[in-house]
Amino acid sequence: MTDFAPVLKAVVPAAGLGTRFLPATKATPKEMLPIVDKPAIQYVVEEAVAAGLSDVLMVTGRSKRSIEDHFDRAYELEEALHAKGDEERLAAVRESSDLAVMHYVRQGEPRGLGHAVYCARQHVGNEPFAVLLGDDLIDARDALLTRMIEVRQRYGGSVVALMEVEPDQVSAYGCAAIEPTGENDVVRITDLVEKPAAGEAPSNWIVIGRYICDPAVFDVLEKTPPGRAGEIQLTDALRTLTDLPPEDGGGVYGVRFRGRRYDTGNKLEYLRTVVQFAAERPDLADDFVPWLKEFVAGL
Ligand code: UTP
Repeated sequence: MTDFAPVLKAVVPAAGLGTRFLPATKATPKEMLPIVDKPAIQYVVEEAVAAGLSDVLMVTGRSKRSIEDHFDRAYELEEALHAKGDEERLAAVRESSDLAVMHYVRQGEPRGLGHAVYCARQHVGNEPFAVLLGDDLIDARDALLTRMIEVRQRYGGSVVALMEVEPDQVSAYGCAAIEPTGENDVVRITDLVEKPAAGEAPSNWIVIGRYICDPAVFDVLEKTPPGRAGEIQLTDALRTLTDLPPEDGGGVYGVRFRGRRYDTGNKLEYLRTVVQFAAERPDLADDFVPWLKEFVAGL
């Protein structure tokens, strides 16, 4: 291990418009949509805490109240459950408020993921930090974030999470040009291309919603002009960091992730995620799985 500063803080951007989920997201952030009975964003905070990051900054937008309320105490509800003797539900209600030390900052306008991350500057200061997208779930059995933190401790710079997709799918994502390091699951990123045209992708490895950023990203974001869709892109800032020398906080590495990831920001993946989580829940599986089989057989 080297003497790079430790990663202690997590930033969770949740201020996007969520247009793919309208009208559900008209007054509710898409990160609050439930996966069975728990909002997606709670799984994300649990993941940060499991990786040792209990200082969590949420970047929220217009409908921030439901997120703040979810991670806060709910005295009336707790009183009512306590009076009924419903200890199980009381514990479920308290779980989210006891999870982490939560902080909030508001992104006045949804000017892109890069801008949302920039809003964390004052809270984060001059330390490396993790970014976890609030609608992107990593299975709790796959310790991706812990591995990314290890990689940052060893190599410095910034770290992104990569997943391999079929060649015909690459153009829907941010894609990385990579070169090997001495470790099988770690690569050095030489370039990042947002939504490459068919046949022009440098690899089949796409960037997913987990990042460890060197604080140098803030100075770069400050100067990053709006890119695709008029939004300030985090990918563009990371691309600039690939060219900076290590002494200026440059260098970007990738962790090749081969585990389970659920992109709940799109409808089809959201439905798959809910079905999969329900089928694995001990309290639901016995009734839900036979019903599901019968339903599918009848289609
Ligand atoms: P997405 O592009 O998936 O979110 O951003 P979106 O814009 O809300 O979704 P659609 O396409 O309109 O349905 C990835 C993450 O970045 C956050 C989102 O909340 C999401 O967690 N984000 C995006 C912000 O916090 N601010 C922004 O300005 C944009």
